[in-house]
Amino acid sequence: MARILVTGGAGYIGSHTCVELLNAGYEVIVFDNLSNSSEESLRRVQILTGESLVFIKGDIRNQHELNQVFDDYQIDAVIHFAGLKAVGESQQIPLTYFDHNITGSIQLIKAMEKAGVFKLVFSSSATVYGEHNPSPYNEEMPLSMPNNNYGYTKLIVEQLLQKLSQADQRWSIGLLRYFNPVGAHKSGQIGEDPQGIPNNLMPYVTQVAVGRREKLSIFGHDYPTKDGTCERDFIHVVDLAKAHVFAVINRLKQTGCRAWNIGTGMPISVLQIKETFEKVNCVAIPTTFVERRAGDLAAFYADATRAEQELGWKPQYSLEDMLADSWNWQKQNPNGYN
Ligand code: NAD
Ligand code: UD1
Repeated sequence: MARILVTGGAGYIGSHTCVELLNAGYEVIVFDNLSNSSEESLRRVQILTGESLVFIKGDIRNQHELNQVFDDYQIDAVIHFAGLKAVGESQQIPLTYFDHNITGSIQLIKAMEKAGVFKLVFSSSATVYGEHNPSPYNEEMPLSMPNNNYGYTKLIVEQLLQKLSQADQRWSIGLLRYFNPVGAHKSGQIGEDPQGIPNNLMPYVTQVAVGRREKLSIFGHDYPTKDGTCERDFIHVVDLAKAHVFAVINRLKQTGCRAWNIGTGMPISVLQIKETFEKVNCVAIPTTFVERRAGDLAAFYADATRAEQELGWKPQYSLEDMLADSWNWQKQNPNGYN
């Protein structure tokens, strides 16, 4: 079975993907600097699967450390999660974001080329569709400039990977454009563990539910949507993790560069999240409506038919599963991995 290098594999989506890779029989090597994660997630991944993986602590901006990994291990394909992801922070320290997300990706590609490894699956984001495309987004739409520096790094890396594969036919690159990942492994042993005050909706909701935050603020209720709150395409992290396994299988057989949306295609409103969470988990979420958050779009959701047709991937989990599993993780780990 193939050996997969997973950069950022100790993080939220990476750790769930390690579970799916190990369950499918792949050998896994995780390369992560633990700047936004804990090695505890990987310990639990190994307990959950009954399989072992190799962990290497290192930084993707360090060419020497990366080259060493490829010297020490024969790698068949890489899944590249490592990077910074906080939209607000990316506006304050853009250079740090360019360094981790763009320079780090280039260093990784250089190390791969040097080692003769040309199969890559990259964590992109629906944010590359920019502000002017109407939902549902499909992969044929022209990309446009995201309104924040984090999104900009995803667009740049996508474009340079496209150019690279056009210039050199040996490359086979998959761009997975995630919509809004939520949920956790059914066991409640691994999940999302944001540092500080969560920026994203789901961890905020679960931290209110567990008593770490007083109340949820819903940003805007006068949007042109069914209930006035924003609509998003929430995708269970285990479905998302499985999409990576399908993408690796596809890339091991194909060449070129191909993008796939990874979402359910179902618009779900912020209010619907709050109300369904309360119903499914029998827990109250005190809520207040506040001003719109700058930069938010009224609705964004996927046309996910290409992933189904070409990868044979289809989401299995319902909204209720997403909300029950998010809560199960938070309840069992009120302070995350700490
Ligand atoms: P995460 O922060 O939990 O995981 C990222 C991992 O990368 C962490 O373990 C962190 O320690 C590691 N890392 C960061 N910089 C590094 C560096 N320079 N060298 C080595 N390791 C480094 O985030 P996540 O939610 O699991 O996201 C994974 C990827 O998916 C990211 O690239 C993110 O931008 C992308 N993505 C995430 C979402 C989302 O909503 N979570 C949506 C779209 C795209
Ligand atoms: C955000 C980023 C996006 C990134 C994605 C995943 C912005 C503008 N977009 O997407 O680039 O790819 O995270 O990391 O930051 N909400 C509340 N109250 C809260 C938190 C959120 O009402 O406390 C609302 C937001 O207004 C939004 C929805 O919930 O309408 C989802 O928000 P969030 O989880 O931050 O994701 P996105 O904004 O969709």
